[in-house]
Amino acid sequence: MKQFISVNDLISVEHPIVGDAINALAIKALAYKQEPLKDKLLGADKRIGLLFLNPSLRTRLSTQIAAKNLGMEAIVFNVDKEGWALEFEEGAIMSGNTVEHIKDAAPIMGQYFDVLAIRTFPGLQNREDDYSEMFINQFIKYAGVPVVSLESATLHPLQSFTDVITIKEHLQITPPLNRKAKVVLTWAPHVKALPQCVANSFAQWMNAWGEVDFVITHPEDYELAEQFTKRATITHNQDEALSGADFVYVKNWSTYHDYGKIYTNDPRWMLTEEKLNLTNQAKVMHCLPVRRNVELSDEILDSPNSIVTQQAGNRVWAAQAVLSELLAAPIP
Ligand code: CP
Repeated sequence: MKQFISVNDLISVEHPIVGDAINALAIKALAYKQEPLKDKLLGADKRIGLLFLNPSLRTRLSTQIAAKNLGMEAIVFNVDKEGWALEFEEGAIMSGNTVEHIKDAAPIMGQYFDVLAIRTFPGLQNREDDYSEMFINQFIKYAGVPVVSLESATLHPLQSFTDVITIKEHLQITPPLNRKAKVVLTWAPHVKALPQCVANSFAQWMNAWGEVDFVITHPEDYELAEQFTKRATITHNQDEALSGADFVYVKNWSTYHDYGKIYTNDPRWMLTEEKLNLTNQAKVMHCLPVRRNVELSDEILDSPNSIVTQQAGNRVWAAQAVLSELLAAPIP
């Protein structure tokens, strides 16, 4: 693996089919869960820079722990608070607030670190800008070392890989279904306009994995970008989607077409015990952070159906498997 930006980065000569590549990496991640220090020298004398242009709890801590388990040194740099304001536009006349161009900063960080991992959120003002992934692409272009996405403008691959291994892990410990598991991604209300990253990415990974029946449900006009959702069943009828579900992934996102808007906050879209009764005793997932009793009810989050804590715990093993792959590849 040369970088980790989307599910497509898993495809290799060894695993040319993406679903196989996901399964192979998931096996590796779950093996790390059993024996966290089994490759404790793999990253000896290697350094990873964790660059945050936006806040984080899980991504920041789990990736640091994953790096430490592999013997790597991890250095966190909160670029938004502690660094110079970065300019990303090519040819920019830097007479405004930005102080340092990415084409100057990234190669320097590429000298300091063997791997660079970056979190950048979308602005949610202009869809073309956000979906061009300029921030992370500029890092890739100028860093000269492998880049890991800690969540970009449109995708959150470490989260989605975690979600796959969490589902896989549950399927291994529950009685066989004798059918594909039904996984439902449901939109939920929220008070703020949130990115589409987690939903896009979850859809991308579920479709690429191909081992589950994948259904997306959301209110009208909350369609996600088709490049990520194609092959999924999409319905505006949440009850119909939830019927017989084995896993329900709850997430808010703002509108994609009329970009970055909140069209509704209809509380009837919040998952409740009554709605969960429509499912096959579904396990409930959320990437966190979650606004309780807005996006997800207390009764669900505090119930045995919720696996959000286990899911967040698995972030370590997902990150460790990805870093391990990058370390195994020849680093330029
Ligand atoms: N799910 C997730 O990425 O959490 P953080 O924003 O806290 O890293």
